Formats: sequence, C-alpha cells, structure tokens
Amino acid sequence: MYGSHGAPKKVTVPDLRARKGGEKIAMVTAYDFTMARLVDEAGVDMVLVGDSLGMVVQGLSTTIPVTLDEMAYHCRAVARGLARAHLVGDLPFMSYQVSPAQAVESSGKLMKDGACESVKLEGGQEIAEHVHRIVRAGIPVVGHVGLTPQSVHALGGFRVQGRGEEGADKVLADAIALEQAGAFAIVLEAVPPDLAARVTSVVSVPTIGIGAGAACDGQVLVCTDLLGLARGHQPKFAKRFADLGDRAVEAIGTYVSQVRSGAFPAAAQTYKPNGPDRTSREDAASLLPRELAVDLGELDTPLPLDHWH
Ligand code: KIV
Repeated sequence: MYGSHGAPKKVTVPDLRARKGGEKIAMVTAYDFTMARLVDEAGVDMVLVGDSLGMVVQGLSTTIPVTLDEMAYHCRAVARGLARAHLVGDLPFMSYQVSPAQAVESSGKLMKDGACESVKLEGGQEIAEHVHRIVRAGIPVVGHVGLTPQSVHALGGFRVQGRGEEGADKVLADAIALEQAGAFAIVLEAVPPDLAARVTSVVSVPTIGIGAGAACDGQVLVCTDLLGLARGHQPKFAKRFADLGDRAVEAIGTYVSQVRSGAFPAAAQTYKPNGPDRTSREDAASLLPRELAVDLGELDTPLPLDHWH
C-alpha cells in the first residue's frame, strides 16, 4: 500500500484493470482540494472530476456549458489533494466530439494543465475512433455509456437507457466498441441491472456503475449526493451515506447566533492582547501616511472615489 518513501502508493491503470471480476472499485467525484483530501484519506480508488461540476459547483441545470478550461482548473486543484487515488478528468461537451484530433488535443490539456492521469468521455461507437487516437497518444481512457448527460436534449431528459432489446443491444455494442478502442474502464450510467450484468460479463475491462445495479466491477457516486450535501431532487440511485447538508446548516446557524450574541470569538480564538492602548482617535489618524491623511471630521462620511487617485 505504501511506496518506498512512506507515501501511499498511487493506484495505477494496470492496478485498476487487474480488479476486473475481483475486488470492487470505489470511485467518487471531487471538484476541489478539500474534498480530494477527504476522499483520498477514505481510501477511494478513483476520483473523477466530472463535468457534473456544472450542476454541483456552478448551479447549472445541465453539464453542457462547462468548458475545458474550467475542467482543467478543477482537476488541478483535486490533483493536489490526492496521494493515492487515480485521477480521471472528464472531457466536457464539444471538447472532443468534433474530431479525433480535437479529442487528443483536449485530453492532452487535461493531462498537462489539469494533472489528470486519465480522461473520460461520453459515447459509444460514434467516438470509438476518438478513443483509439487518445489511447495511442499514451493517455488512458475511461468510456461512459448508457445515460450520457451531455446528450440530455437528444435523449429527451435524464432517463434510464438500454430498455428493450434494441436499446440494450446498443448499450452492449457501445461498450464493446470502447473496449476494442482501448478504454481501460467503462462507466455504465442509468441502465437496467441485468443489462449492466450482461455488459460486465462480456467486456474484458472493469465496468463502473452509477444507477446500474450491483453486478458492475465498481461503483461511482457524486460526492455531494453521497454525503447528503445536495439539496433538491436526488436521482433514485444516489444513496446518502450521511446528512452533512443538515449538519452544515445546523453548524452555520450556531455560528450566526454566536456572532450575534458575542459568544464567538471567545478567548480560545483570540490572540494575546498587546496591553493597554491609550492611543486617541486623533493620534491614530496621525499614523496614516501623509497621502492618506484626511480631516477626521470627514471620516464619518464616505470619501469621494477620487481621494484614492
Ligand atoms: O460528470 C460526472 O460526475 C459523471 C459521473 C456521474 C459518472 O460523469
């Protein structure tokens, strides 16, 4: 578990591939340094900086507006918090669909600017060539089939995919296309559990489910869903393992009342005093450098803006 210098050993792509059919892979999203440290300390194997950050961090109703620069910024912050977990960066909408060359370039940016260790992209057969080219550039790829949120408008909403024979065959064919193209793992989102089990038994790489039942080789959840930090509608598959949102509201409410009552800050949060201070208001004003000195009488009225120029 630990490397030669006592630091935890990083989870690698070959480590993850070797977990196919073995110990399940635990993956979770993170969008900043603080959350990255917590999920890493908890022992997750893979951390995804998902483009779900558009909805979770930015308050958007879809992931579509998220940009590659925004992804790189959040990936960089998360990378600094991970000692052990493998970091996956999501390629956002229109950063890879245009051409295989665009997909390679955008993946390179997430690796170089975002310090990612692999990239994830949504889609199946139609992006197999893109995946192949990214992998050939030396960048590990995680695929994502079933419900692909970047296609929310084409799909008619965030809804279960792979229903019926035709729908199921498409999800299976998409997963096989990604495996053939060189993806080292495949996320299966919002598909019936028997279909996820079928895909998992057919492809040779680990499947990571979200709303895809227990047969997958691993599971992924959005960190704010898992911790109960999210407010409003929750997807059926989002199990809350804690109610940190309620705890946070309670704690912040206590802070508000202690500020108002004067109970905070107490001595424990206060530095040692300097000793008796006999500086009058006039003496204090004379401490200002000459260019900032004002007539004390003016201090009660806001200074005109040009005073500072
Ligand atoms: O963007 C994201 O967080 C995802 C996961 C839900 C798989 O794609």
